Amino acid sequence: MAKFRKIGVLSSGGDAPGMNAAIRSVTRKALQSGIEVMGIRGGYEGLLNGDLVKLDTHAVSQIITHGGTVLYSSRSPRFKTPEGMNLALKTCEDNEIDAIVAIGGDGTFRGATDLTNHGIPSIGIPGTIDNDITATEYTIGFDTAMNTVLGMIDALRETCESHNRCNVIEVMGRDCGMIALYSGISTGALAIAIPEIPFDEKYAIEKLIAARMQGKRGLIAVTSEGMKPVEGGKNYSEYFVEQIESISGIETRFARCGHIIRGGAPTIRDRVMATEMGYEAVNELLAGKSNEVICYIDGKIKPVDINYALILDRMYKNKLVDGDLDKFTADDIAKMRETCSHRSAMIRHMYQMAMDISF
Ligand code: F6P
Repeated sequence: MAKFRKIGVLSSGGDAPGMNAAIRSVTRKALQSGIEVMGIRGGYEGLLNGDLVKLDTHAVSQIITHGGTVLYSSRSPRFKTPEGMNLALKTCEDNEIDAIVAIGGDGTFRGATDLTNHGIPSIGIPGTIDNDITATEYTIGFDTAMNTVLGMIDALRETCESHNRCNVIEVMGRDCGMIALYSGISTGALAIAIPEIPFDEKYAIEKLIAARMQGKRGLIAVTSEGMKPVEGGKNYSEYFVEQIESISGIETRFARCGHIIRGGAPTIRDRVMATEMGYEAVNELLAGKSNEVICYIDGKIKPVDINYALILDRMYKNKLVDGDLDKFTADDIAKMRETCSHRSAMIRHMYQMAMDISF
């Protein structure tokens, strides 16, 4: 069993509801194992600046109920530079931090692997509303964000119903359409536009017209912010609103959910998942493991090597560069391909199902 005296915990990148539950779990599990815990404020930027706070059991009391992150967050370009890394290592040395648990998305994991390579064993926990990390079927915050979107779209449908209107709702998710897809399915949207699937705009508008002709008053279309802009750089969702109005004559309004879906009290799913992932992260450190991301696969919490997770992600997003696969065995590569095609097939299936039953 590896012996650590003190570990650091940080949250980095876009905040996500449930990050606090993970911080609490990491802290309590470490304390219970005789390890001191330092909270690093403001992500990797806080590590560079030595912005630390000692976490005892009371410091994390009740934070499980709150969205956001009590440790604050940032994106830190400085951390990627050699000078930034030196400052981070100095903070660890000065404060006797032996290991780090970093909660966030792929950028956060790149930071964790860099730290591991520089002698600070680090473990990542997936925390992002986007659910866009290929190695894990779930990222902390996704469920809460979707439930927030759900409430907003249900409310918009009521006003659409009263006014005989259509509403196009754009949701976050960066290049990943998961939030749009799931919230579209769960609100009975007639049209869903996500970057992963070619969007048949003509068919979508025909469907809106057909629904209206059969007496449907409240019409909902959900779009992902990751849709490519149209010629001239116009945002796709706003363009789609214009297309609906000009082709169908249906009065259409636009709503962008924006950052509001990043906040709010985490759902049970996010609290429990974050608690399990935090607990497992400390267990892995205690078992002498590092450079792992704690994933959720086939209903189980499973650690995955960070390098594997990052390259798998690049494979899924068609961003592999020469040499990326060199360090992996043929078996690893086959497994990566299988994961990618499984994820694509799942998204295609969900999308098809949504379209088949939307009207
Ligand atoms: O990654 C989470 C996320 O909320 C994305 O859905 C979105 O594209 C991005 O972060 C927004 O980033 P920022 O908070 O920097 O505006």
